[in-house]
Formats: sequence, C-alpha cells, structure tokens
Amino acid sequence: MTKLDLIVAKLRPLTERISEFTLRPADGAALPGWEAGAHIRVDVDGGDRAYSLIRFGPGDGGGYRIAVQREDDGAGGSRFMHELKEGDRIAATPPKCDFPIVTGEAAVLLAGGIGITPIISMAAELQAAGVPFELHYAGRSRELMGFADDLSERFGDAVAIHCDDDASALDLDAVIGALGERHLYICGPRGMIDAARSKAEAAGVPGARVHVELFDNASAAASDRAFEVEIASSGEVFTIPPGKSIIEVLEEGGMDLIHDCQRGDCGICQTDVISGEPDHRDVVLSDAEKAEGKVMQICVSRAKSARLVLDL
Ligand code: FES
Repeated sequence: MTKLDLIVAKLRPLTERISEFTLRPADGAALPGWEAGAHIRVDVDGGDRAYSLIRFGPGDGGGYRIAVQREDDGAGGSRFMHELKEGDRIAATPPKCDFPIVTGEAAVLLAGGIGITPIISMAAELQAAGVPFELHYAGRSRELMGFADDLSERFGDAVAIHCDDDASALDLDAVIGALGERHLYICGPRGMIDAARSKAEAAGVPGARVHVELFDNASAAASDRAFEVEIASSGEVFTIPPGKSIIEVLEEGGMDLIHDCQRGDCGICQTDVISGEPDHRDVVLSDAEKAEGKVMQICVSRAKSARLVLDL
C-alpha cells in the first residue's frame, strides 16, 4: 500500500498527556477523503499505530486531525508521537473505516477517555445529517479529558460529560436502559466495552445495534508470561514471549495469516482452539464464547495454559 507523506502542520496540547496533531500532505496535494469512524495508521518506532480521524463539522479545515495520549510506559508509539515537532514528516496509510455509522438511524455515542476521537466525527456527521443523537463522554476527571469544552460548545445539550471524581460519573445502566431502538456506538477501553456489551445483551438489545471499537491495543500486562502455540496442521511449535502477539511470532516464523485491526475488535483473525485455555483480550467474543474457549482472536489474546493447539 502506498503510504501518505505527511507533515505535522500544527500541534495543540489538550491536556497534560494528550496532544492534537494536524497533519497535512508534504506535497500540498489533496488528501483522500474519509467517513466518520475512519482511522489512519501512522508509522512509529518499530511498527505502526492506528489513530482515529477527528472532524467537528463539515467546515473543518484541510488535513487530518488526530489526538494522541502519551502512555506512561511509552507503549504503542505514543512516545514517538509526543516527541514530534511541527514541521516533522511522518508516513501513514490512507484512511480506512472499520467503525461506520448506520446512515440515518438515531444513535447513542459512548466514549471512554481518548476513545472520544472517532465519536467526535460521528457526532458531527449525525448533526450534519439532522439525525438525533446523544453523546456520553466518560473519563477520570475533566482536566484529563481532551475536547470536553469543544464538544459542549459544538454539540450543546446532546453532550453529557461524565467524570469519575464527581457526581456526574457515568451510569451505564441508565444509558443502556434509555437506548430504545437507537444504535449504540462505543469507543473506549476494554473494560468499558465489555461492561456496556454485557448490559446491552442483558437488556435484550440486538447485537446488530451495538457497534464497538477498542481505542488501544490490548495492553501488555506485567504478569504476561511466555507460552507455546502448536500448529495443528504441521505440528510446529512456537514460543510467544511477553510483548509479542501470536500473529507476530507466527508471521516471523513464515506463516501467512489473515488479520486486520490487530487490536481485537474486528474478528478477522478468529482461530479455532483445539486444546489449551485462551486468555481472551478482545472485544469480539461474548462472555459465553470466551468462557467456552473454542475460538480466540490471535492478534491480542494470549494463553492461560502453557500451550495452545490452534487449528491452523
Ligand atoms: S485482527 Fe481484528 S480481531 Fe484480530
């Protein structure tokens, strides 16, 4: 795929840990268009990282806007991004949308932390189309939440800001209980997505009306340990160390695998488990499917057992 050659045209600190980047084409040519929910993958040290594109309305200037939260351990390319200065060049894929909105249908938008970025563009698209929506934005405290003021200014009463440290904290039961026939779009950390999904399922909301995107890679846990993966068709055994995914190790070993999001929310890499116990870190499978342990997303999930035998 041909990468876009981009320049950091503008940097705007939003909070102590979040900065907004406006990226423009280095050659001045027009950038490919995109729909709400789209992301680009930016080349960072040792890989690439997906960032959702932000648009507050049809009149937003040219270029791509993204926001990056600096992670304390520097994981996921955030340190690389936060060391960039205005005028620096970066390479990125053209926009791709794995999290589209259903045209013309009323929506409840739910964002946790930096997961607000695609949700902003969705709100703008719904507003421009005259489709009713409400937006719930949850975070630890207001000063840690990027765009809170911009959102209220732009979308007024459609926006509710929920801070864990005051009386406005998110009441997920109330949000799901009031959903009615509307679609629910969630972008946030895995815990929020899992909780909202379970509550929606319990409330009888059809799965087709719940749309999710995980805003970060399943983070490596300090307790992660190495495990083995046996390939059923060949008997080959690979060791998956902490900090590497099953897909990464298998591809380094010469296997050709199908994958897409690489963060556990698209389901493309789903693989049958013949034996062993997966440690599920995706937001694709239901609680029941996770408990059953018959399939797993090999881009993010690991193992609780010493070995997994996969149907590959
Ligand atoms: S590649 Fe998307 S869930 Fe694994």
